[in-house]
Amino acid sequence: MDKVTDAAPKTAGLRGVAAATSSISDVNGEKGELIYQGYNIHDLAQYSTFEEVVFLLWHKRLPTAAELSQLKQSLSELYALPKEVLTLMRQFPRDSEPMDVLRTAVSALEFYDKSARNISRDNALATATKLTAQFPALVATSDRLRRGLEPVQPDPKQNIATNFLYLLKGEKPSEHDATVFDKCLILHADHELNASTFSARVIAGTLATIYAGVTGAIAALSGPLHGGANTAVMKTLLEIGSVDNVENFIKKALAEKRKIMGFGHAVYRTEDPRATHLRQFSKEMGERAGDTKWYEMSQRVEEVMMKEKGLFANVDFFSASAYYSMGIPLDLFTPIFAVSRISGWTGHILEQYADNKLIRPRADYVGERNRTYVPLDKR
Ligand code: COA
Repeated sequence: MDKVTDAAPKTAGLRGVAAATSSISDVNGEKGELIYQGYNIHDLAQYSTFEEVVFLLWHKRLPTAAELSQLKQSLSELYALPKEVLTLMRQFPRDSEPMDVLRTAVSALEFYDKSARNISRDNALATATKLTAQFPALVATSDRLRRGLEPVQPDPKQNIATNFLYLLKGEKPSEHDATVFDKCLILHADHELNASTFSARVIAGTLATIYAGVTGAIAALSGPLHGGANTAVMKTLLEIGSVDNVENFIKKALAEKRKIMGFGHAVYRTEDPRATHLRQFSKEMGERAGDTKWYEMSQRVEEVMMKEKGLFANVDFFSASAYYSMGIPLDLFTPIFAVSRISGWTGHILEQYADNKLIRPRADYVGERNRTYVPLDKR
């Protein structure tokens, strides 16, 4: 029998491997810099809107006023879910995970799109527009149905951020909440070849449909090491319970080799630039809700994690307390990530289709070779 080769893969987790070319976004992990199509995330968070960013990710440039208004018009005309999908969603178990509902509903949307298999740029853009328009209703509707409430009809006059909060709560959000939420959507829109985006590109690379790529991306996002981390962060904060308990809790958890969700990053070696904004939103939302406890606890966790492990907070850490203070249920945090990331996923799928090569890496084989087959009755 040949010797088994060294078990350590050359590129574990594909760290540092460039598996695609892309102009959509870039992460500079050393500098803590994130750009979308060349624009710094700080500028976009300060001056832009989610719809403008959607256009930017899909078209590689900022829109003119007329183009932006056209995109908003197209999105708002598509806000409502097909009635067949709504009927289907009513059959889902009430206790389903919202990410599972989203994944299954997106997969089902393809049944009602007769041109789904047309992946020409124009048709793929139309599908991307439809999915981006319908994610808010998918997520909000799944929450309302499980609470025994009827879905709210989307308001075509509202942007995606306002519409989502309206569909979820049944009342128009304050301008402040809608603006903060819009900025959260900007901050989560894209992040280079993260696990879900890579999944989307691998699927699109087989020339499968956008629905297929997005369904796979949702599945990848749901894991606690990726988008699922924001829900896990809030669960940890609730488990800790008070600012006074933070230090002991974190030290004990680290001693038990538990990972503290919302910390560390595969690429950033300094502060995640998105966390800078989300920290501020967590503070503001806590103040507006008249309870800054979650923000204060988060700050303390951040200090202890820096002291104990030298790890920085990532995008998921402060988004958890910000959303919680907005009265959003814990298990919707990750679907909300998807409400934004659908723009990046579809941008990457469009880019993949435009210059496609099947993504088919190799594995470092660590199994045995030249084994002699032994018949069943001789083993
Ligand atoms: N809490 C405690 N320790 C952590 C940690 C965390 N959140 N993140 C990383 N570490 C530690 C690991 O235990 C490991 O320590 P060791 O060398 O003593 O074994 C070291 O830091 C490297 O971690 P590793 O998981 O190999 O690094 P990575 O680059 O693959 O990790 C993440 C990136 C995001 C998967 C990782 O930091 C993590 O699991 N974070 C928590 C989940 C999370 O917030 N995900 C959202 C990402 S945006």
